[in-house]
Amino acid sequence: MKLKEVVPLGRTCTEYRAMFSLNEADLNKKILDCGGGPSSFNYEMKVQNKEVITIDPIYQFSREDIKKRIEETFDDVMAQGKANKDDYIWKNIKTVEELAETRISAMKTFLNDFETGKKEKRYITAELPDLPLKNGEFDLALSSHFLFLYSDLLSLDFHVKAVDEMLRVADEVRIFPLLDLSTNKSHHVEEIVKIFKEKEMQVSIETVDYEFQRGGNQLMRICKN
Ligand SMILES: C[S@@+](CC[C@H](N)C(=O)[O-])C[C@H]1O[C@@H](n2cnc3c(N)ncnc32)[C@H](O)[C@@H]1O
Repeated sequence: MKLKEVVPLGRTCTEYRAMFSLNEADLNKKILDCGGGPSSFNYEMKVQNKEVITIDPIYQFSREDIKKRIEETFDDVMAQGKANKDDYIWKNIKTVEELAETRISAMKTFLNDFETGKKEKRYITAELPDLPLKNGEFDLALSSHFLFLYSDLLSLDFHVKAVDEMLRVADEVRIFPLLDLSTNKSHHVEEIVKIFKEKEMQVSIETVDYEFQRGGNQLMRICKN
């Protein structure tokens, strides 16, 4: 991975709770966040004594390099948000200014925690579809804005391997949203439902109380039987 090809963007614990319908029991589970990037979910959970490990290929880079890349890309991302305002639902986040504040705050929190979290092995450099983790180490594995979102770049085979690997290390997988970058439903969704039902997993699509990308208010839950 080349850092100059990455646009780091991170969401908050409040957003994770809503996107993944995390209830109190879920928050007490051992959670793996796949592709967590500069999200503040890991740190905000740690300060509540909850157990989260986050993997992402960008963790191979230094704090300074990630910070620099965030600074280089952030204004453009917000300008695109403003230009394409109608593609988003301004409900959970009400204005472009609030969006910028929320993202900046999440990423500052992440950057302040990154070095400590790396030492504590809460941030691990890894990339799907291979996780350097033991079988069944986690209760729940999450993917926010990675699987399905990059469906034009990542094949169905990649998605199947990634979900298989998440199910190797966790009992349950949740993926949000089911949309691709053009805010269309990912063309892998139906196939993934079919393939994992055939593997005798319980697969469901559920509407959640979070919608930012227009139409992006559903998660996929895949559980071992
Ligand atoms: C749009 S960001 C989402 C960050 C975070 N999950 C959130 O919702 O705020 C997508 C993340 O996926 C990471 N990523 C890219 N390739 C990956 C891979 N093969 N496995 C896991 N994560 C990957 C990127 O580095 C980036 O941090």
